[in-house]
Amino acid sequence: MSISADTEFARSARPLSGQRAHEIQAFGSVVSMPIVLDEKTRRESQTNLNQLLADTITLRDLYKKHHWQVSGPTFYQLHLLFDRHFNEQNELVDLIGERIMILGGVSVAMSADVAEMTLVPRPPKGREEVPVQISRLLHAHEIVLRETRAMARLAAQQGDDGTNDLLVSSVIRMNETQVWFVAEHVVDGPLVHADEQTIE
Ligand SMILES: [Fe+2]
Repeated sequence: MSISADTEFARSARPLSGQRAHEIQAFGSVVSMPIVLDEKTRRESQTNLNQLLADTITLRDLYKKHHWQVSGPTFYQLHLLFDRHFNEQNELVDLIGERIMILGGVSVAMSADVAEMTLVPRPPKGREEVPVQISRLLHAHEIVLRETRAMARLAAQQGDDGTNDLLVSSVIRMNETQVWFVAEHVVDGPLVHADEQTIE
């Protein structure tokens, strides 16, 4: 039996690039997943998690912007700290994005879509002073923490324990710790001379 031209083509080593087709799942929809959680709960959780994902991606990228653009006497320590926080936020991004898929949803991914969704104010493209950089980071952390606490309570009420655990154990704990490390840099303390004390 001879091999047909079609079969030969299908088994060709030629890369089949440039292919396009319809989406297999629309953003905002949920497919059924056998994880013993009703569709309403999974739909609400994935909606909340997508908002958190957009804000976490933005906060992550704000850290990289500041890692590159930081200046001044604390350059080295902040350059390193901002990159550490970028990497930690990047881990959260993956955990949140994958949780959305576990629930049968679709994770927002591309920066243009993230920019449309995020609640974190857009910073200028240019460089800003350290206290302004830090204020932006702290504000973004507050946005994330406020929404995450509300989402965690909702997930607990609806029995979505996996989402609640991710929000409480990973997102809240990590963001609180990062706030501590960043906020201590805007305490107005003396660098060399202690404040004068009245010694009696
Ligand atoms: Fe770097």
